[in-house]
Amino acid sequence: MSKTDTVYVTGAAGMIGSNIARALVDSGASVVGIDNLWRGTRANIAEISMRPNFTFRHADIISDHDWYLDMSEDSVLIHAADIVARHRVRFCQRMERVPEERPD
Ligand SMILES: NC(=O)c1ccc[n+]([C@@H]2O[C@H](COP(=O)([O-])OP(=O)(O)OC[C@H]3O[C@@H](n4cnc5c(N)ncnc54)[C@H](O)[C@@H]3O)[C@@H](O)[C@H]2O)c1
Repeated sequence: MSKTDTVYVTGAAGMIGSNIARALVDSGASVVGIDNLWRGTRANIAEISMRPNFTFRHADIISDHDWYLDMSEDSVLIHAADIVARHRVRFCQRMERVPEERPD
């Protein structure tokens, strides 16, 4: 991973995600934190939200699709959102963008 790659952290307002996001921001990485604030809090990301290399997206990774369409092939995804297995499978399928965008 180079310093210019963007790191996307799901569950960024949660305990694990916020600590990962903070460490990445401190290292100089460009970080996008995604959370639906179902259980996490803005207080967990209050400090890094003021940093220029952190962006928060209030989104649900199951039902909101826009945030990951911004990702490039060089982006890194760290998944720390707490979602049930059934939803996790659906999420991975969407990340692969199949079948409609895959050439035959
Ligand atoms: N904390 C631990 O000791 C521990 C140990 C082993 C595994 N885990 C796993 O690691 C993950 C994170 O744990 P944590 O302690 O940080 O939990 P947490 O509840 O503090 O953080 C999870 C975050 O995910 C967010 N989230 C949930 N569903 C979402 C959705 N659909 N879209 C967007 N955001 C969503 C919540 O709002 C929350 O901020 C969990 O899956 C947990 O089971 C945690």
